[in-house]
Formats: sequence, C-alpha cells, structure tokens
Amino acid sequence: MYGHQSTRLLPDDFPQFFERAKGAYIWDLSGGRYLDLMCAYGPNLLGYGHETVDRAYIRQLESGDTMTGPSKIMVELAESLVELVSHADWAMFCKNGTDATTMAIMTARACTGRSMIIRAKGAYHGAAPWCNPNILGATAGDRADQIVCNYNDVASLEAAVELAGRNLAAILAAPFRHDVFVDQAPPNPTYAKRARELCDETGALLIVDEVRAGLRVARDSSWASLRVSPDLSCWGKCIANGHPISALVGSDKAREAAASIYVTGSFWFSAAAMAASVETLRIVRTSDYLERIQDLGDRLRRGLNAAATSHNIRLRQTGPSQMPLFLFDDDPELRQGFFWSSQMIQRGVYVHPWHNMFLCAAMTEADIDMAIDAADGAFNALRLHSGVLPAVKQLKRPSELRSTSEGKSVEH
Ligand SMILES: Cc1ncc(COP(=O)(O)O)c(C=O)c1O
Repeated sequence: MYGHQSTRLLPDDFPQFFERAKGAYIWDLSGGRYLDLMCAYGPNLLGYGHETVDRAYIRQLESGDTMTGPSKIMVELAESLVELVSHADWAMFCKNGTDATTMAIMTARACTGRSMIIRAKGAYHGAAPWCNPNILGATAGDRADQIVCNYNDVASLEAAVELAGRNLAAILAAPFRHDVFVDQAPPNPTYAKRARELCDETGALLIVDEVRAGLRVARDSSWASLRVSPDLSCWGKCIANGHPISALVGSDKAREAAASIYVTGSFWFSAAAMAASVETLRIVRTSDYLERIQDLGDRLRRGLNAAATSHNIRLRQTGPSQMPLFLFDDDPELRQGFFWSSQMIQRGVYVHPWHNMFLCAAMTEADIDMAIDAADGAFNALRLHSGVLPAVKQLKRPSELRSTSEGKSVEH
C-alpha cells in the first residue's frame, strides 16, 4: 500500500479498505461506520455521493466521457472557474494536484526562460520527483533548480530570492502552512505581499498551490483576501466533489507560456468529471456551504477545547476550523495523538494524528456533537492511560514523510 492513503503510518486499528461512502460517513469492510473527518484527504466537499453533482456526472457519462477530443463542457468549466477565481483569465485541466503543480512550474519556466523555483521547506506540492517528500526514487538532479525557504519568514524568502539571482522563475507557495506533523499557521500578510513584490521586481511568477485548501477557505484564491493576486494557481481535490479532475488557472501574463508547453494525459479531457465540476462550482457560487463548514468547524473546535480542558489535557487545534490539525502538548513522539486517534476510531470518528483534517457540507450539528462526545470519551481514556502510553512503532521512520533533500536551503 502506497502514498498518503496507506494506513502504515496510522494506529493499527485504522481500516485500510472501505466498502462505501455517503454524505459525511464511510463504511469499512467489516461494516464499521465512521464520521469521516478526512473527507478522502480533501475531495469530499459537499458530501459523498452528492445527488446533483453525481447526476451531472452520469448525464455526461451517458453522452460521452473519454473521447478523441474534449466536450464543450470543458469550455463551460473553464468559464466558471475563471469567473470564480479573481486572478484567473484562463484555465487548463488535468487529473491530479501534482499535474497542476508540475504544469505551473513548467509554465513559469517557459514564461521567464529561467529555471529556479523557490518554495517553503516542508510544504507538500505533490508526489512527482521534483517535489516528492521522500528522496528515494528521485535524484538530486530532479530538485536541482529549487531553493527552499521558511514559510512566513520574510528574511528567509528574501535570501532565497537573492540566491536565485537572475535565474528565478517562480515562487511557489501554499495558501497557509498546512505541513504534516507541525502546527498549521495562517499566512503572514507581510510574507504574502513581499512574495508578490519580489516576483514583480525580478520578473518571476507567483504561484499559489490551492490543491488542498481551495474552495474550503474561500470562493476565490486564498490570498485574494490579503489582496495578493498570484499569476498562477493550482486546484484539485474537491473541485468536482470527488470526481477526478484538477486545474491550473492563470492570468494573461502567463497565457502564452501555458499554451506553449507540452502537457497532456489520456484522461485529462474526460468530460464526466468536468460536468461534475461545473455543478460543484455552481453550488460553491450559490449556496452557503462555506459558511456552514466554517460554523461546524467552530462548533467542533469549541467542543473539543471544552472536553480536553475538562480532562486536563492540552490539545492544540490549528489551522482554519474547517481544516483542523490536532496535536497534543508535550507529545513529541505522538504517543498521545496515536492513542487518542485510536480511541476515536473505536468510537466511530475517523480522525488523523498528524495530518490536517477536512469538514464537509454534509455534516450536521448532530454529527459534530457526536464527534465531541466521542472525543470526551477518548480524552477520558487518554487521561486514564497517560502514564502507560505505548511507543508509536509506526513512526520509527518519520523521515519518510518529513521533507528530505528538497533543494538548496536558506537557513536563518
Ligand atoms: C497542497 C497540495 N498540493 C499538491 C498535492 C498533490 O495532489 P495529488 O495528490 O492530487 O497529486 C496535494 C495533495 O495532497 C496537496 O495537498
């Protein structure tokens, strides 16, 4: 079993395979039902098996999906994405987030005629050799044209730009720090603005990777609220509510370069996922799904804080409440995190001990209250076992997931 959906680095009682999913719930092969706070690692935004999204998918499937060329639905989808994302003048579609981030750096290199990419240490941008968090199977050459800086650290970003000199093609940034194993952090507005200025001063492109956070924190690109407009942004995961499609969108400045690079895939033009995306974006534009997941996230955050405090447990909840990460104080080996997550799964709530989670619009206040009740029981168990928590054997090799050999590094 491979990649982020392997349970190899999760507590032993986490199921690896699932039978079905509906709304906010997933069922494993033994019939165990879980409130799913991972939402398929993001793709489930409106609820599994969403009626109108899936109907749009099936309707398109019946008239034509993977054909010798695209359906006209591709143009409709491009128009709806460009209407939604304020910096976007055009859109191109692919399948996975990694396709979109790879296409973004190729576009930036084609646009500038330069090679160097600056990105933040520990930030995930996909699994291709240029960005894979694990060096195994990749070469130093695969990452040769990259410099890593520290997210939210202006001095480190400036030093990286200086190191790149006249060879800077792009700064690639996550909308906020959503790395694994560490607290999430909102973007420092000064850092985001400085990234934009440095790109303007050097002629490089600014890329924001919205693959994980897109549509879950805003109905536009995430930095629009900071008045920072990227040249390119990458989208994926939930833009078709679970159907396979991702996108690169960009401003006119990058249009010719994006049109000039050779990128493709056998299934990139498949129309059914595009129809699902058109319907998802319609719901995004016209419903209160975002406010709902924010309210549900706030309710969960408040309830968990109260429950943890009542058991004298120090839980840190970071990130937007609809994309929370839970870590425990004084838990460097994640013994508390693993024990508590295991207790949660036993109580029917699928949480994650070191990755951010996701809420979806199919969740109800009753679901959140059930999760808080489960958490109360799990905190109680944690308190009772606090002296005897087993070591986490799964994380003997955490370096497998923590970033290694990312490129040249700027230390401050
Ligand atoms: C921020 C970010 N970028 C890119 C990717 C890669 O997306 P995919 O797994 O669809 O290739 C991910 C996936 O988790 C991601 O979180």
